[in-house]
Amino acid sequence: MTVRGTTRVVGVFGEPVRHSCSPAMHNAAFAALGLDFIYVPFEVPPEQLSTAVSAVGALGMPGVNVTIPHKGAVAGLVDELDESAAVLEAVNTICSRHGRLIGYNTDAEGFARSLEEAGESVQGADVAIIGAGGGARAVAWAVAGRGARSIVLVGRTPPKAEAVAALVNRATGSQIARAVPLASEGEESVRQSDVVIDTTSVGMHPHVDVPPVIPPNWISAHQLVVDIVYSPADTVLLRAARQRGARTVSGPGMLVHQGAIAFEMWTSQTAPVVTMRQALTEALATLGAEG
Ligand code: ATR
Repeated sequence: MTVRGTTRVVGVFGEPVRHSCSPAMHNAAFAALGLDFIYVPFEVPPEQLSTAVSAVGALGMPGVNVTIPHKGAVAGLVDELDESAAVLEAVNTICSRHGRLIGYNTDAEGFARSLEEAGESVQGADVAIIGAGGGARAVAWAVAGRGARSIVLVGRTPPKAEAVAALVNRATGSQIARAVPLASEGEESVRQSDVVIDTTSVGMHPHVDVPPVIPPNWISAHQLVVDIVYSPADTVLLRAARQRGARTVSGPGMLVHQGAIAFEMWTSQTAPVVTMRQALTEALATLGAEG
């Protein structure tokens, strides 16, 4: 691409950001649509975060993504929080609108769209979510919003799982979510669910052979099993689930769609998700080769 006087700059604030796949996804999308935008990774240490966020406005940037470890802190630095970021208490996308910086979280909607793209639905389903971090929060709120019948947070550390369940119940004004300890009630909860979603980082590159948190014999053929790990795309859990006859959805879709939603907010264009998915696959292959 050619950088001109008119080029709009977006990017990602994180530390580290060296291995982020977002520049590859977004720059491929800008090229595919012929948009005069560039996406740049910015390594921002925590003590510079406030200055960096102010710079989004000062430099006239349409917005930025925010990643580890800044998602929580940025929520206190923007002018306004969208409902998604307020509920999840984390911002992954900033948008500049009429001189104000608005914080969004596109992870939940990105997760929901990745299921829809795969032809799956959680409408009326009993859903088990493994893990209780930021990923679990986004996924739990997403499935609550897409009509799940019940949600059980299966956590190794019960107070964390209980906090996620309480957050979802508060946000939805319902009692849809509850928490159970993995050790004592994990097996029964997973066996009784229609959809099982692993939000832990177990199985992620480079520790691809670590056994999944859920033993495969807890899974049966009627279930949908989802892993939000995107590198590798096909985790030990997903392979084991397919061997037991279950349907599976892998993690790259969530990453592509959370990015696609940010892209659409910054550019007001429909994101070329097929191009983004292809760029992500290539970037992950390069990372795997490096790592
Ligand atoms: P993120 O914000 O990306 O979701 P996180 O905050 O590190 O990441 O959350 C990961 C979740 O996976 C945590 O709930 C973690 O368990 P704890 O709540 O006990 O910390 C869970 N997790 C990670 N490794 C696990 C394992 N081997 N068994 C069970 N849960 C695990």
